[in-house]
Amino acid sequence: MKTLLILGAGKEQVAAIAAAKAKGIRTVVLDMNSKADGRAMADEFHLVSTRDKDAILNFVRYYPSKIDGVMTIASDIPHMVAAAGEALGARHIPVAVAELCVHKLHMKEKLREAGVNVPLFARIAGLADLKSFIAKTGFPIVIKPVDNSGARGVQRLSADMDIQAAFEYSRGFAYSGEVIAEKFITGLQISTEGLVHDGKFYCTGFADRNYARLDDAVPFMVEDGGDIPTLLNDTDKRAVEAEFEKAARALGIDWGPAKGDMIFGDDGKPYVIEIAARLSGGNFCYDKVPWSTGVDIVDILVDMAVGNGIDPARFVPTRNLATSQRYFFPTPGTIREIRGLPAAKGADHIRKVDVWARPGETIAALENHPSRVGYVISCAPTREQAVAAAQAAVARVEFLVEA
Ligand SMILES: Nc1ncnc2c1ncn2[C@@H]1O[C@H](COP(=O)(O)OP(=O)(O)OP(=O)(O)O)[C@@H](O)[C@H]1O
Ligand SMILES: [Mg+2]
Repeated sequence: MKTLLILGAGKEQVAAIAAAKAKGIRTVVLDMNSKADGRAMADEFHLVSTRDKDAILNFVRYYPSKIDGVMTIASDIPHMVAAAGEALGARHIPVAVAELCVHKLHMKEKLREAGVNVPLFARIAGLADLKSFIAKTGFPIVIKPVDNSGARGVQRLSADMDIQAAFEYSRGFAYSGEVIAEKFITGLQISTEGLVHDGKFYCTGFADRNYARLDDAVPFMVEDGGDIPTLLNDTDKRAVEAEFEKAARALGIDWGPAKGDMIFGDDGKPYVIEIAARLSGGNFCYDKVPWSTGVDIVDILVDMAVGNGIDPARFVPTRNLATSQRYFFPTPGTIREIRGLPAAKGADHIRKVDVWARPGETIAALENHPSRVGYVISCAPTREQAVAAAQAAVARVEFLVEA
């Protein structure tokens, strides 16, 4: 029996634990949260922080039997997965590549060098840098910490804003204290995902991200779910996929997962915002893509991680359905009651409804993705049906909030 180390036992990693178990692979799971959702399902659970490299390496070094592979889903810790993979002698994304992918500035420098189409960007050490960048690109711009995720500290700035305060805010979310500014690219925001296997790049996921609420949370950039299939025509879709592959290869991902934050610009060009060297979060790789295409890259990566062979047929879509996801955005305050969840769950085409906020909890103003409180996902024959179903289900749920 093979053994897979999974970094993280939270909601987003449950799909990896389930996929491994389903094929008789023993799961050893690490998380610093003793109440993590996936704990009960894991064959073995250990209280280890998935961001503490020394603790992970120690764990691996003293583990009494063979571990065949390591992976995670969603958690932006490819460098921890890579370090563990190296220590285990298991297949992994090279440590230096994974490190590059968790530093938005170094990643963009590498991409620009390789001729990948990225927005104009600059390292921002203080107000003078920010002013000179704005003088060069004009507004709007995006400012963000180089080393966080979940849109924490990401802001879209326009001329009427206090740019000094915005810089300080973004810097507050940077572990390293470093901040990057980018030109804001207008266009269709897209999520892509794929795997490199046997040297071949398979783009398995392609979704339009919904930024209809972009102006509600100014200056923050909060995505409200997304839709499959894309509105792009085949030619433009292929151009985005090609730029995605070019970026992943330029970074050095020669095996394993890549998640792309992409834009098809209003200028007709595909842009790379960033590439994550891991599987995606937000239900993309483990719900929406398998439901719409039949391709299950969580299942595939579980096999790849432990060194099992992969039949390339597993990358071929077996169906063509639409999915749509929308989040709940209650007004800030204390939740008194949540009404309508059973109606939302029972609505047409709805596959999943999840709300993690509970009555009594206080909801802060919307600033980033962790401040979302739940979602609905639909699956239907057409995109129009899926979107209408998700919107209708969200509308059925009422959050009674005391300001
Ligand atoms: N220069 C840009 N132009 C337009 N949109 C952008 C730009 N930079 C970021 N965004 C949007 O904001 C989102 C969050 O930014 P980014 O991916 O850099 O931060 P993050 O913290 O990694 O967020 P996430 O974990 O959600 O990907 C991007 O996925 C993209 O949709
Ligand atoms: Mg991102």
